Amino acid sequence: PYPHFDKLRANEPVHWSEAFDGWVITSYELVKEVAMSSVFSSDKLNLLFNRLSPEQQKAMSPILENMRYWAIMLDGDDHKRIRTVLNKTFTTSFSESMRRRIEEICDELIAEMAKKDEFDLVTDFAYPFPATLIAWILGVPDDKVDWFKAVSGDLSQVFNLASNPDPECAKRCLVAAVEITEFLKKLLATPELLLEGSLAKSLFDSGLSEKEIISTLTLMLVAGHETTTQLIVNGIYTLLRHPNEKEKLMMDFSLIDSAVEEILRFESPVQNLARVATADYILGGVTIKKGQKVVPFINAANRDPQVFDHPSEFRIDRSPNKHLSFGFGKHLCTGAYLARMEGAISLEKLLKAFPHLRFAQKDQVVSWQKHVAFRQMESLILKA
Ligand code: HEM
Repeated sequence: PYPHFDKLRANEPVHWSEAFDGWVITSYELVKEVAMSSVFSSDKLNLLFNRLSPEQQKAMSPILENMRYWAIMLDGDDHKRIRTVLNKTFTTSFSESMRRRIEEICDELIAEMAKKDEFDLVTDFAYPFPATLIAWILGVPDDKVDWFKAVSGDLSQVFNLASNPDPECAKRCLVAAVEITEFLKKLLATPELLLEGSLAKSLFDSGLSEKEIISTLTLMLVAGHETTTQLIVNGIYTLLRHPNEKEKLMMDFSLIDSAVEEILRFESPVQNLARVATADYILGGVTIKKGQKVVPFINAANRDPQVFDHPSEFRIDRSPNKHLSFGFGKHLCTGAYLARMEGAISLEKLLKAFPHLRFAQKDQVVSWQKHVAFRQMESLILKA
């Protein structure tokens, strides 16, 4: 999509798109302006579901109820209330407390992969890794982790429902929402069993309502799973496509943090945000009407030549690197520290365990999945 974005950014950075039924924004400054302005609302529940028929909407009500307090969907005081709790809970030291567990999960998955000469990076590592970690964060018992991974994937499809209300997918997503809500309800019903220092316990003690806590814990799962999967997959894919940069990293792993930033910039897992104008607003000289949708493209902003020197070059030591891959402003990703840590630890471990890692097929052509918001692939077959 990148040459297409370059053309749009140069000629029409605020562009009406029938496909998105909204304004597509491609320049860095304007993407930031939208993310900063309170005229643009994050309340997207209606947008997500206004393509469904009233019957379908009724059928989907368990999902809608769970999503009611997702921070990414909230504005104003509701957002502030939940965000304040998240900021207090999801601290750097909370993320750091997961380092050992992150290393353990990586080592276990890598040990299994090492038994084969060919594996699928997505299903053998990048998909189960963050799911196993979030299961642990939420206190999912060991015998339910496989169930948890499956519902997590089904629930993530919620973002696709607006553009592709496939009935089968909608059904699985619905079942997942019901199951995960039930699971969290049970978890919170016995607060004396909640582990001290766990996310559920901190949220329980925060004074939020049961509905708000269930919403927030579910959002963790949806926001923290496939985004991290894609960071890892896009990371290995991009490094293999740029062997000199990969070599540079293999010679000096102190570059790993900066490599993760460049991977996030170069192939941002979240391609675009979505907002709704709550009043008429002039953006880059174009009038956005109240009620219209705005779609700021992070991966277009991340290659804006006004901000990034030679943006289409992948340079693991790029500095400065003020990419927008975790968003900007009030909704800046709460899990950014954790995601960076997960990315750095897993990529370093993978590259060290498999120094000759390569595409299973020469000139690997990757099929990027068609997804409204994520830049993702279904599988990436590699040879050790
Ligand atoms: C919000 C990206 C990992 C939790 C966001 C937003 C982006 C983003 C772009 C802003 C959405 C908006 O403005 O509408 C990513 C990427 C990740 C990642 C690229 C991995 C590479 C995580 C993880 C967690 C997490 C691991 C937690 C376990 C959240 C939450 C929000 C959020 C709770 C909502 C914040 C709010 O609305 O105030 N993320 N994320 N994310 N992310 Fe992440």
